[in-house]
Amino acid sequence: MVVVIFIKTKSAAPTCRASSIFAAPQITCQKSPVKKMKILLLGGGGREHAFAWKISQSLHCSKLYIAPGNPGTAVLGENVPIDPENNAAVADFVLEKGIQMVVVGPEAPLVNGIWNYLKRYPSTAHVAVIGPSMQGAKLEGSKAYAKKFMRDFKIPTAGYREFFAARSELALNFLRKKATLPIVLKADGLAAGKGVVICQERDEAVTEMTEMLSGKFGGASRKVVVEEFLSGIEFSVFVLTDGDSYKILPVAKDYKRIGEGDTGPNTGGMGAVSPPPFLDAEMMKKVEERIVKPTIAGLKFRKIEYQGFIFLGLIKVGEDPFVIEYNVRMGDPETEVVLPRLKNDLVELFIAVNNRQLSNMKIEEDERAATTIILASGGYPGDYPKGKPIKGLDRVEDSIVFQAGTKSVDNQLVTSGGRVMAVTSLGKTFQEALAISNKNAKAIEFDGKYFRGDIGFDL
Ligand code: AMP
Ligand code: GLY
Repeated sequence: MVVVIFIKTKSAAPTCRASSIFAAPQITCQKSPVKKMKILLLGGGGREHAFAWKISQSLHCSKLYIAPGNPGTAVLGENVPIDPENNAAVADFVLEKGIQMVVVGPEAPLVNGIWNYLKRYPSTAHVAVIGPSMQGAKLEGSKAYAKKFMRDFKIPTAGYREFFAARSELALNFLRKKATLPIVLKADGLAAGKGVVICQERDEAVTEMTEMLSGKFGGASRKVVVEEFLSGIEFSVFVLTDGDSYKILPVAKDYKRIGEGDTGPNTGGMGAVSPPPFLDAEMMKKVEERIVKPTIAGLKFRKIEYQGFIFLGLIKVGEDPFVIEYNVRMGDPETEVVLPRLKNDLVELFIAVNNRQLSNMKIEEDERAATTIILASGGYPGDYPKGKPIKGLDRVEDSIVFQAGTKSVDNQLVTSGGRVMAVTSLGKTFQEALAISNKNAKAIEFDGKYFRGDIGFDL
């Protein structure tokens, strides 16, 4: 039975007027009876604000805590000052408050083994954890592991070799004599999004490799994956899995470069569009058959516990999809366009994931397009100032503002990070949605504000 319920949303930010588009989202609830639970969300960025916005609308959520959250999440639940990477502190809080579900936003707590920590102890083993085990998180935590996984399960990806610090002469020799240019160098471990370098020249590759192997990214680059360069348009596919079955969520494309026209250094993401109009049913069928199915089957074959999101960073080369990277979480800012297009009750999906009954659920997507534009601090992704007062949120109309690098000081919202907020809008077309996001991006003010006015320029 499908029950359609209208829920009034609380305003998304302390000073943000509820907009007509986002005031009464339609939530479809597919199962009854409703089971209310206390939920802890880990993280504090724009992605987590979007999660908190969606979870707080759920019929299944009685109380939402966010660790550590941000001023945007503070009006949707209760922020708690807990370090998400401190497993023991998270477990203590879960016990103290009787938390029944932990939703993990960023990758670090997963790579750090929060799943294993909670499942190991009888007192917390019953808690639903949305996110994979430490073994599953290696798909993001080690590029070499991910590449081998793809090779073993015949998942299309760029050809590669791996090199170790202990045998650096092999790496340098390969780059000097054999590598085809351009060539991609990837630090094996997590490097805060900075561990991938595309080299156009041999000398550049040799210098970069020498620096990486001698610890440019600490232990993360003691092993380096060298990968064939693929040319095409990138997109992000999000899969929710219970370990047996899976559901594909709305697809998105993000814009990683800081400058307009996709120029300048890489960032965490400066904007996103969902759905990317260049993806047709035929391409999505290839993604599902060649990438999603063998990935889920591979995890199962390896007996890897995985109940959570898989973020496939893909590239369309000609008419074929290839995997650029796996992430074991949702994307940021992609979540800020994916969740507003998801009509399902998110917690109901999470409950199905935990019960391994996801195959009974149906994903319901809003037909409209969603876009988001990131407002960044001037200087990002390099050094930038903090503490700049933010004004104009009360002028925002028909968008929702997801906060990321913000802080509340004496009741004044100020900047506290590189990516400050994401301005999300819905529209009949992505152009219509972008026009609304652009208008509101201009209305919000802080010293040094920067945003890309050309999101979607290539579509
Ligand atoms: P990652 O940190 O793995 O997401 O990589 C950052 C960015 O580097 C990707 O979004 C791509 O734009 C680019 N990249 C990574 N691997 C390749 C590749 N094999 N060919 C071309 N571009 C790549
Ligand atoms: N937007 C890319 C990421 O979340 O990794």
